[in-house]
Amino acid sequence: MTLVHNQIGQVAFLDLAALHAPIRHRLDAAWEHTLLGSGFIGGAAVAAFEERWAEYCGTEHCVGVANGTDAIELVLAGLGVGPGDEVLVPANTFVATAEAVVANGATPVFVDVDPGSLLITAGTIAAAITPATRAALVVHLYGQIPDMDAISAVTTAAGIHLIEDAAQAHGATFHGRRAGSFGTAATFSFYPGKNLGALGDGGAVVTDDAELASEIRTLANHGRDTHLLHTRRGRNSRLDGLQAAALDIKLDYLDRWNHHRRMVHRLYRQQLGDIVEMLTNVPGSVPVHHLEVIRVDDRDGMRQALNDRGIQTGVHYASACHQHPAFAEFNRGPLPVSEAAADRQLSLPMHPTLTVDEVDYVTRTVRGLL
Ligand SMILES: Cc1ncc(COP(=O)(O)O)c(C=O)c1O
Repeated sequence: MTLVHNQIGQVAFLDLAALHAPIRHRLDAAWEHTLLGSGFIGGAAVAAFEERWAEYCGTEHCVGVANGTDAIELVLAGLGVGPGDEVLVPANTFVATAEAVVANGATPVFVDVDPGSLLITAGTIAAAITPATRAALVVHLYGQIPDMDAISAVTTAAGIHLIEDAAQAHGATFHGRRAGSFGTAATFSFYPGKNLGALGDGGAVVTDDAELASEIRTLANHGRDTHLLHTRRGRNSRLDGLQAAALDIKLDYLDRWNHHRRMVHRLYRQQLGDIVEMLTNVPGSVPVHHLEVIRVDDRDGMRQALNDRGIQTGVHYASACHQHPAFAEFNRGPLPVSEAAADRQLSLPMHPTLTVDEVDYVTRTVRGLL
């Protein structure tokens, strides 16, 4: 009855080995090419991927960096956000979003999220803006873009930057526009498990602002203007050639992988929508279902029971950002929606090689446990 085709005998939460198997020959060839050409850092592969990724996102510029956290940190640094500045961050996100703010010496101001989609909203942003606010970091969490019309109306009226943290939303759209094309700049993570993942760490900034792109490129390369002249106190955060080559190959498949994720999501909705709380869809938004999050009362019990039946799950996230001890100093009191969600959310298997039989098994098992 248990169905299982992956090597560890479980319904995998994510199966990168299965994802890479059919394109292994291309990845091997890219590695060989990198090795023979010694294009390890920067070079043609990085430039080619940057150009393609900017075009895919519908932006003018892309700067490859070492990871998605650095991408946020460098955008804020490039905009001159620092001590005394406030940056709005959804409480329901991965801590990296807030880490990048703190790394610049600025203050993360955590705001609550919509109870249905669990995404930041125009209303929660508007309520938290003060004279010190410089930017709102809008996270397209779980692969869904919130109402960017309403959000950009608020950020524009307030004169603050809208920055997209699109680490989980490669290829997601809102009214036909792709993630990355809405704000001053947007950031991506290419962590291997993301919808577009490298074979290690990687990240990127996309923007239409040529000056900001150039500033970020300088900051990410030791503050170098030319090879010998350092005009900024920068750092090292570069996308390497092998990762860029792998990303370039995997970008050929992103749309079809996202399509598969949407099919899987439809099955989950059909088979579980009447019995568990699922994320609501933002009107106009076409998500890419990075994660399939349900909410159940006994989340930890459900997780254990699924694990006992060969089904791997995840928790995104078990605490709202301001509840982590590391961010205690920025905890300004309860954010009830994010906190309640943290106790109840459970991420079911979701990836581009998940089969219909596997989804059926997961949903039958969940139903049997409720
Ligand atoms: C919403 C969000 N922001 C930022 C990041 C940070 O990306 P990275 O792990 O590449 O630094 C992640 C990655 O997990 C993420 O999910």
